[in-house]
Amino acid sequence: MDVRFLVYRTTTLLHRTTTVLRKRNFSIQAKQLESGFFEIVLFEYGTNKKAAHIHLGLSQTDLYLATNRLRTTEPTTVDAINVVSLVVKEAYRGRGLALLLLIYGLCYFQSIYPTVEYSVLDDVSDGAHLMTGNIYARVGYEHRDHVNLSHTQRNSLDTSSPTKVLDMKKTFYYKAKSLIDELEK
Ligand SMILES: CC(C)(COP(=O)(O)OP(=O)(O)OC[C@H]1O[C@@H](n2cnc3c(N)ncnc32)[C@H](O)[C@@H]1OP(=O)(O)O)[C@@H](O)C(=O)NCCC(=O)NCCS
Repeated sequence: MDVRFLVYRTTTLLHRTTTVLRKRNFSIQAKQLESGFFEIVLFEYGTNKKAAHIHLGLSQTDLYLATNRLRTTEPTTVDAINVVSLVVKEAYRGRGLALLLLIYGLCYFQSIYPTVEYSVLDDVSDGAHLMTGNIYARVGYEHRDHVNLSHTQRNSLDTSSPTKVLDMKKTFYYKAKSLIDELEK
């Protein structure tokens, strides 16, 4: 995919997410930490209380990339946006802030490193095993490793590792766009 097209899409999502967050009374602060990772924090206007943060940075990861619907047999090492922490303070949960911050963080990072096409994270959330109703699945992350349907619980997966991968060229844009459409209302 043409990098300019990817950047155009990313910039559009970044502007739209910023607008929704501002309308909801949150300011956004991004800074680079000594580790090289970025920290993006949401503050509530007026009170200046910290509501949420995301930490993300560049790392290399091994992926079995799909070619013609089959996975390659050898892993390829790629650069990826590594989301190491996403936390919304309890008082602010359940209002879409985590989704908005995740989309904002990924787009912010891609606007700085436009050639990065993947994101990885270890999902340690309560809902990590859920097929629906999981925050990362909602923007298009998929399990990287071995996955089975759970025999004991509906809507649940048994997984061999917590690592999830997002291919930013694939469904991310459309999923993020429709989430923002929803959260804009
Ligand atoms: C997980 C967390 C970031 C969600 O924050 P939030 O602002 O309440 O999330 P949102 O309102 O944006 O919810 C978006 C979607 O996330 C999913 N979600 C909500 N809580 C979740 C949880 N605990 N685990 C997994 N997914 C969750 C749901 O799909 C939800 O959408 P839906 O209810 O409309 O289906 C927040 O509960 C938190 O900070 N938990 C403690 C830290 C943590 O577990 N972070 C993730 C580590 S990988």
